[in-house]
Amino acid sequence: MTTPYLHRRLPALEDTVPFRRLGHAPTPVRELTGTGRGDLWCKDESRYGSGGWGGNKVRKLEWMLPELRRRGTRTVLTVGATGTNWGLALALYGRELGIDTAIALIDQPEDEHVREQLRRLRRSGATLHFTRSKPLTIAAAPWLFLRHARGLRLPSYLPAGGSAPIGVLGYVEAGLELAAQVAAGELPEPRRIVTAAGSGGTAAGLALGCALAGLRSEVLAVVANDTLPLATADLTRLADRTAAVLRRRGATVDLPPLRLTSTRAHLGRGYGHPTPGAAAAARVAEAAGLHLDPVYAAKAFAAALSTDPDGPVLFLNTYGPRG
Ligand SMILES: Cc1ncc(COP(=O)(O)O)c(C=O)c1O
Repeated sequence: MTTPYLHRRLPALEDTVPFRRLGHAPTPVRELTGTGRGDLWCKDESRYGSGGWGGNKVRKLEWMLPELRRRGTRTVLTVGATGTNWGLALALYGRELGIDTAIALIDQPEDEHVREQLRRLRRSGATLHFTRSKPLTIAAAPWLFLRHARGLRLPSYLPAGGSAPIGVLGYVEAGLELAAQVAAGELPEPRRIVTAAGSGGTAAGLALGCALAGLRSEVLAVVANDTLPLATADLTRLADRTAAVLRRRGATVDLPPLRLTSTRAHLGRGYGHPTPGAAAAARVAEAAGLHLDPVYAAKAFAAALSTDPDGPVLFLNTYGPRG
């Protein structure tokens, strides 16, 4: 399947919103057993991507990289924490298209997971700037843009986590894909879909995709990052901005109200800080065959285990192997 659901659903976008497939769709869905919670399902994004390199950033890049190419961009500047999955995915997949990546890195609590990620970042070919904190990154921004200019051309800036509207389309697509899996009887229509929120694009896109597809599932965004605005209103605004881009590019988009809420109940002391609930959830997940990271997916899985809607729960596994 190469034509994305978004283009099939809104054909006006075929010529105005370019797409480049980077993984094998659809991603698998299965019921998780032995977790102590009944009617729990998983849509597993962990292997979405090439070379065994997966996770939720790849779908965003399927829309962002062709858009960058269209604009003739050769260098991108982005920001992330030292364990950034986004920055790493951008560097690896961008490199394949001849796009260079520079990343301003903000400190996060350091553990083996983060150190390993930094080693991968150093190998990725990206230029790393250790700007350490948000205020220092903002102060360094003019220098960073000039440092990575090519002639008179400044680098394109991409926000943390790839959660610009064009990147959010990756999870609109995943929502449409999920609806097709529900229609094919691969899983029941979820009452609630639980996913981690770090920059919000995954949750916002899913909610928009579900609404476009006519699913009644509600998306629960489990906030794992306290350095960005991720309240329900912020996520809804991001979904609205994404729908506005689709309209500007020629599609007619009529939507029911989005079913989307966010919770900070599993954040603990903040971004990157482990919680006992997430550690316990990661062990349960491991026994069910899912390997989760402590920063995002384990916190979301803790929420999936404890949320109690009247119906099936779908956990979106956003963490992938890092080759
Ligand atoms: C493994 C993982 N899960 C979830 C997320 C959250 O996704 P989003 O940034 O779209 O909210 C991220 C990145 O932030 C991530 O790296």
